[in-house]
Amino acid sequence: MAETLIIAEGDKQQKYELLYRQIEAVVSGEKDTIANMANIATMIHSTFGFWWTGFYRVIDNELVLGPFQGPVACTRIERGKGVCGTSWSEQRTIIVDDVDAFPGHIACSSESRSEIVVPIWRNENIIAVLDIDSSTLATFDSTDQEWLERIARLVGR
Ligand code: SME
Repeated sequence: MAETLIIAEGDKQQKYELLYRQIEAVVSGEKDTIANMANIATMIHSTFGFWWTGFYRVIDNELVLGPFQGPVACTRIERGKGVCGTSWSEQRTIIVDDVDAFPGHIACSSESRSEIVVPIWRNENIIAVLDIDSSTLATFDSTDQEWLERIARLVGR
């Protein structure tokens, strides 16, 4: 297993290509989902310098805070609430360019300006969501969605 994260020079696409290969290498030998979430959170966070990067796991019909990097966060989110709970209930990735314009956004941190939430599937069920917050507006686009959904599949498999 690689012990040092290498961050590609260049654009977002190039960074994700190398990040994805390293995540694949790190998770391929480990079947514990929480251990993999922990490494993935720090690898994404270090590559892009996001404000907050982490996972909420589905436990007893609620989202419960899992491994993350960044400031202290809300521990529990109801289904359908906030960006995370909406991604879960609507079973899709949600990109929010301006969190102040998203009805019901849950502000764990006043620094957060934009956000992406990606559901993690295992078989037919969503078992968690990957949530990333940025301190600048409109950080996330279809490139982030495509790569983060690929990373989510590595977590879920
Ligand atoms: N903003 C999220 C809550 C989680 S924190 O951003 C870490 C939401 O609205 O679901």
